[in-house]
Amino acid sequence: MEQVIDRILLSEEELQAKVKELGAQISADYEGKDLLVVGILKGALVFMADLIRAIKIPVTIDFMAVSSYGQGAKSSGAVRILKDLDKAVEDRHILIVEDIVDTGLTLNYLIDNLKSRGAASVKTCTILDKPNRRTIPIEPDYNGFTIPDEFVVGYGLDYAEKYRHFPFVAVLKREVYES
Ligand code: XMP
Ligand code: MG
Repeated sequence: MEQVIDRILLSEEELQAKVKELGAQISADYEGKDLLVVGILKGALVFMADLIRAIKIPVTIDFMAVSSYGQGAKSSGAVRILKDLDKAVEDRHILIVEDIVDTGLTLNYLIDNLKSRGAASVKTCTILDKPNRRTIPIEPDYNGFTIPDEFVVGYGLDYAEKYRHFPFVAVLKREVYES
């Protein structure tokens, strides 16, 4: 299976240590607040499962699934909700959990969308950031690792729905996605 990997970018140990740090930071920042963690399916699944166990204050969770159009050539900037939250978020403190921020379109859309529903606050937490490809100038409030502009898989991230289960983040071999 690991023949598809060019190299491991972040080991399981590095990821787990970083998630503990993020959890401690978030716990301190939201102490005494009613925190709703919103995971963006499917990429955030693995990170979110680890992150909520590293958060030491009470939280509730919900999920959204979105699809962004125009991967490949040019992104149109359109984001569509495939699965919405189960409950209203008025007056809730929301932390959006995403796998990666790339162009910034997805997070930008989600922040605006959740703010428009009357959330008390909306912040974002990603495990990976690819700042080189940003088209919208936004930064996640919490981020694990800044990575170069290479296609990565594992720790929830996929190529054609595969490799999400790798406990590490790896760069795919070119021939895998160019074949
Ligand atoms: P934007 O451009 O909206 O993109 O910030 C965020 C989404 O793009 C996907 N993405 C990746 N998925 N490996 C992946 O498996 C990558 O290297 C990668 N870069 C961006 C991802 O779905 C994310 O939610
Ligand atoms: Mg994906």
